[in-house]
Amino acid sequence: MKQRINSFSAWFSERFPLSDLWNEHMAHYYAPKNFNIWYFFGSLALFVLVNQLVTGILLTMNYKPDAKLAFDSVEYIMRDVDWGWLVRYMHSTGASAFFIIVYLHMFRGLLYGSFKQPRELIWIFGMLIFVCLMAEAFMGYLLPWGQMSYWGAQVIISLFSAIPVVGDELSLWVRGDYVVSDATLNRFFAFHVIAVPLVLLILVFLHIVALHEVGSNNPDGVDIHDHVNWQGRPLDGIPFHPYYTVKDIVGVGVFMFFFAMVIFYMPEMGGYFLEHANFVPADPLKTPEHIAPVWYFTPFYAILRAVPDKFAGVIAMGGAIVVLFMLPWLDRSKVRSIRYRGGMFKKALLLFVISFLCLGYLGTQPATPFATTMARVFTAIYFGFFLLMPLYTRWEKTKPLPDRLGHQPSIEERLPGLLALYDEVTLIQQKSDAVTGAVTVNRRPNPAGVKAVLFRFVKYLKESLD
Ligand code: HEM
Repeated sequence: MKQRINSFSAWFSERFPLSDLWNEHMAHYYAPKNFNIWYFFGSLALFVLVNQLVTGILLTMNYKPDAKLAFDSVEYIMRDVDWGWLVRYMHSTGASAFFIIVYLHMFRGLLYGSFKQPRELIWIFGMLIFVCLMAEAFMGYLLPWGQMSYWGAQVIISLFSAIPVVGDELSLWVRGDYVVSDATLNRFFAFHVIAVPLVLLILVFLHIVALHEVGSNNPDGVDIHDHVNWQGRPLDGIPFHPYYTVKDIVGVGVFMFFFAMVIFYMPEMGGYFLEHANFVPADPLKTPEHIAPVWYFTPFYAILRAVPDKFAGVIAMGGAIVVLFMLPWLDRSKVRSIRYRGGMFKKALLLFVISFLCLGYLGTQPATPFATTMARVFTAIYFGFFLLMPLYTRWEKTKPLPDRLGHQPSIEERLPGLLALYDEVTLIQQKSDAVTGAVTVNRRPNPAGVKAVLFRFVKYLKESLD
C-alpha cells in the first residue's frame, strides 16, 4: 500500500508542483515571529469566506429568485428544509461576522502601517475586496424580499439618480425597471450568487499573491529580511507551517465559539444582523417608517445623510471609501508601526475610531437635527484624519526603530545568566532541620537537574546565536 502511495505521489509530482507550492507558501514561507492577536483576522476572513460560499450554495438549492416566491421560499428554508434554519443563520450571521473581521483586519493595517511601502498593492487589492464585499452584501440583502430588503434597495439605487445628466438613466439601468421589481431581484441574484463571488475569489487570490511576494509586516513594522542566516532565511522569521497554521486553528476555534453563540442564541442580534422589518414581506405600496441599512453600512450612510445636498452626499460617501484607497500615499511617516509613531498619529487614530463608531451609530438612528449636526462633526473628523495625514505624519517625532524584532540580547549580556546556571549545577547545600536535628544535603548535579539545566543552556545559546 505504502509503495503504491509513493509511486502515485511520484507520478503526481512529475506532473504538478504541489510540494513546491506547499513549501514556497507554507513550510518554507518565513513569517515574522512576533505576530499577535491582530494577525488572526486574515485567516479568519478566509474561513468566513468559505463559510459564506458553502452555506450560500446550500441556500440556493431551495431559494426562488422570483418576486412572488422569494419571501416564502426563505420561510420554507427556515421551517421545512432539514437544517435549513441553521444554514440560513450561518449565512446571515456570517455576513455580519465577515464585516466585523474585515474591519478589524483593516484596522490592524492602520495600527502597524501594513499599507505602507512595499505593501501598497496588498492594500489596494484589500480595498477592492472591501468594495466587492459591500456590493455582495447589498445585493444579498434584497434576496429575502422583505420590507427592508425592498426599501433599502429602493433608497440606495435611487442615489444614482442624483448624478447630473446620466443619473436617472443609470438608476433605471441598475434596477431594470422604474421601481425595484422582479427584474431587479433576478439580476441581483445573478450577481450575488456567481458574478461577485467569482471576482471576490480572484481578488483574494491576488491579495495573497501580493502578500507572499513582499512578505508579511509585523507589530514592530521592521523588515525581517534585513537579517538573514547563512541559508538566506530571516533570523526573526519562523516557517508559516506548522507554527502559524496551528496558531490560526486556535483562532478559528475561538471564533467558532462566538459564532455558534450568536447563531444559536441571538441570530437577529436585536435587529442589527437581521432587521425586524425584514420579517414582513416586501410591500411596494407601504414605506416603512424608518429605513436604515444593516450596521456595516451605517458609517457611510451617516456621511451621506450629513451632507445637505443629495449629489454632494453621494460624493462624500464615495469619497469616504476612495480616500481609504489613497492611504499608502497619504502617510508620510518614516515608521510603520504605531509602537514607534509619535503622539499626533495616536491621537488622530483614536479620534478617527471614535468618529467611525459614532457615525455607525448615527446611521442607525432617525436623522434628527441634533443627530445630523453630530454626523457633520464626525464626518469632518473622518476626512480630517486622512487629508491632514501628510502633514501630521511628516511633522511628528517618531521613536528610533529597533534593528530587529524585539530586544535580542548579545552573548555578553547572557553571560551572568550562564554563570548562574553553572552555579545551579554545582551547588551543594546543607540544611539542618530545627525539629528533628537531622541534616539534609542537597547535592547537585543530579541527573534530572543536569538535564534541565543543559536544556536551558542550549536554549540560551541558541537565542544568543540567532
Ligand atoms: C475577503 C477578505 C479578505 C481576506 C480573505 C484577506 C486575507 C488576508 C490574509 C490571509 C492575510 C495574511 C494574514 C494576515 O496578515 O492577517 C492578509 C493580509 C493583509 N490584508 Fe487582507 N484579506 C481580506 C480583506 C482585506 C481588506 C479589506 C484589506 C484592506 C483594505 C486588507 C489588507 C491587508 C493587508 C494590508 C495585509 C498585510 C498585513 C501585514 O502584513 O501586516 N485585507 N489578508
